[in-house]
Amino acid sequence: MTTTSKPPLRHFLQFKDFSREELHYLFARARLIKEKFKRYEPHHVLFDRTLVMIFEKASTRTRLSFEAGFQQLGGSAIYLNTRDSQLGRGEPVEDSAQVISRMSDIVMIRTFEQNIIERFAANSRVPVINGLTNEYHPCQILADIFTFIEHRGSIEGKTVTWIGDANNMCNTWLQAAKALNFTVRVSTPPGYEVKPECADLRDSAHFEVVADPMEACKNANLVTTDVWTSMGYEAENEERMRAFSGWRVDAEMMKIAAPDALFMHCLPAHRGEEVTSDVIDGAQSVVWDEAENRLHAQKALMEYLLLGRQ
Ligand code: CP
Ligand code: NVA
Repeated sequence: MTTTSKPPLRHFLQFKDFSREELHYLFARARLIKEKFKRYEPHHVLFDRTLVMIFEKASTRTRLSFEAGFQQLGGSAIYLNTRDSQLGRGEPVEDSAQVISRMSDIVMIRTFEQNIIERFAANSRVPVINGLTNEYHPCQILADIFTFIEHRGSIEGKTVTWIGDANNMCNTWLQAAKALNFTVRVSTPPGYEVKPECADLRDSAHFEVVADPMEACKNANLVTTDVWTSMGYEAENEERMRAFSGWRVDAEMMKIAAPDALFMHCLPAHRGEEVTSDVIDGAQSVVWDEAENRLHAQKALMEYLLLGRQ
């Protein structure tokens, strides 16, 4: 563990953990880090540091972007999963946090209930980052908003339409709307609505519900969706296929959106289920930029958590 001076201990467990001002700092920093990366300029600000990544669910983008990203910052990354560690054999989360955080500088966790990561963080000596829980996916939204800014400038005052399941992505978009002052319009099938306490909506003026998905896309600046069945909910798959069949983003929906509307999807996607091929592979889609920007946004995040403002 590195012992040089550190900023106060902070975690990124939910999007609302950071202020508007901090988020703007991160977007600016991600841009600079991305530019350096494109010029092949080293940015080894975390030389000799260690990131531990804990995965209790599958991943391609999150593992790759954290592991490659931390190496690009000069450090090394260790991958743990539930199957091969004591985490899967009942060692308490609190004990794991004590041990893991004594041997590393920063921890990223992908797990089930948000409560697990909150308990881990409460017992950790080092920053903890949420790499997806049932309730939230803050690193993805950081990358998505960075991507929106790259393509269209500030997201303030804009309308983001969410079509489909009120899942971890949707909850995080709703937290982001409040933090960055834009509106999220949500259209879900009956029975799959937003749970206000998850999205922290008690006093939000940044949230609209529109039952009809086509109507919800009207004049939107960004249309976004996600899988109908998230990881951990596989037993509900058949029932969900039936319930969500009218909530597929298609070319007609993109046509009713603003003329310069973007389409986003955090991936992995199921073409023909939540989105048609012509939309996800079409001119308005920025899904590959979203995926790449996980790398740059998270490098800015890890640098900030470990070193503070540069
Ligand atoms: N979007 C995202 O988090 O992808 P992975 O599940 O591949 O990490
Ligand atoms: N909502 C999806 C996102 C995957 C990156 C899930 O939780 O499985």
